[in-house]
Amino acid sequence: MAKLAINGGPRAVPEGMLQPWPYITEADKQAVLKAMDDAMATLKFTTNHPAVRGLEDGVARYVGSRFCLSANSGTAALHMAVAAAGLGPGDEVITSAYTFLASASCVLHHNAVPVFADIQPDTYNIDPASIEAHLTDRTRALLPVHIHGMAADMDEIMAIARRRGLAVIEDAAQAFGVDYRGRKAGTIGDLGAYSMESSKLLTSASEGGLLVTDSQEYCDRARLVRLFGEGEVGGDKPRDYNALTMGWNYRISFFSAAMGLSLLNRFDQVRSAWQANCGRLSARLAGIPGVEPPFVPADRSHGFFIYPIKFRPERLGMEVPVRPFIRAARRALQAEGVPVRFWQTKPVPGQALFQALEGYGKGCPWKCHHRRPGLRYDPAEYPVTNEVISRSLYLLKMSGFNPPNTPELMDRYADAFQKVLVENRDELAVLVKEEERTEK
Ligand SMILES: Cc1ncc(COP(=O)(O)O)c(C=O)c1O
Repeated sequence: MAKLAINGGPRAVPEGMLQPWPYITEADKQAVLKAMDDAMATLKFTTNHPAVRGLEDGVARYVGSRFCLSANSGTAALHMAVAAAGLGPGDEVITSAYTFLASASCVLHHNAVPVFADIQPDTYNIDPASIEAHLTDRTRALLPVHIHGMAADMDEIMAIARRRGLAVIEDAAQAFGVDYRGRKAGTIGDLGAYSMESSKLLTSASEGGLLVTDSQEYCDRARLVRLFGEGEVGGDKPRDYNALTMGWNYRISFFSAAMGLSLLNRFDQVRSAWQANCGRLSARLAGIPGVEPPFVPADRSHGFFIYPIKFRPERLGMEVPVRPFIRAARRALQAEGVPVRFWQTKPVPGQALFQALEGYGKGCPWKCHHRRPGLRYDPAEYPVTNEVISRSLYLLKMSGFNPPNTPELMDRYADAFQKVLVENRDELAVLVKEEERTEK
């Protein structure tokens, strides 16, 4: 039996086997070059560039939404959605405690206040029962996140929202193209936002975002926010330099749009390749004790932007605390060539920003006189989030799920798990002891 790579044995995953994401083709490169030529003809406002228009039309068609507006990040698209929904000072927006910060900071950016709900232990998505528990007379919107690339329980969430007259903004930053009961994530609520940041599913290889909605009114308001409060400029009408509302500059670059549009044209093909890879990895991991691959309910697909792996040392007969165990497993697996890593280290409400309640300074927006007095954030109020974080390691999109990587790479990953958790358990136990000592 080979020793662990961390102890000088051979790696389970050969060096150089993993091909990184983004997966950029010759056609993508040609599309970006063409966009430069087109820019000479269009000039001035990138919102009128053919690649930008093409991306917006293409995405609207692909997800089945009436309108799509591009933006220069997923965070910008989310902020446009918050503003378009008419949220503002004192309004509470319920989002998940287990997400990336931007799901909550987009709310702060418009002076409203995020409130956090806990998640479900199997899907890691926001728990509708916890949403109910956090509703107050100030709640104006729900902002579910399709975490890791799998849709939240949208039917239950929409039912709460409709009963209480709340807007629903879907944070689909991680979930472009993901299916939920015959619809695309991001198109079920009133507004949805996707990220095109380099690691994301519809990548721009750089930065970018997309907002989708079926509402003309929301679309018009978001357009104003995207461009200085002036809305659409360029075209035949002379610009009158008159901001109608507060706005930002959230225009996408045509480079990002051209790359995104080029990938959109072969998105389903790329998507089935990475789903096949992740399916293979899950099938193999399901047979290895001590780890749980992600659970995917039958009524939705998983985009696998992040592939979470839950560790249960007790199922290996190891009576050790879980934290030093996953630290040791991470070191050993990385040495074997599996790029597992930590993701969120605490529930979002535990981040320093939400503990200090400083915000814009002088305590705003939490001290604004419109807000509910006494709102505080206690990370201990999210037991499921804490439990998931304490037991999980993650493979991210650039970990080799995408083509040209094949199920063979997934097999090598699974071999590494088998080697670390089953075949070399004694060596792993020594690493766990080391971690326990350094944690003291
Ligand atoms: C859940 C979630 N929301 C929002 C964002 C923000 O997207 P962007 O990085 O494009 O601003 C991200 C980015 O990682 C995310 O994961």
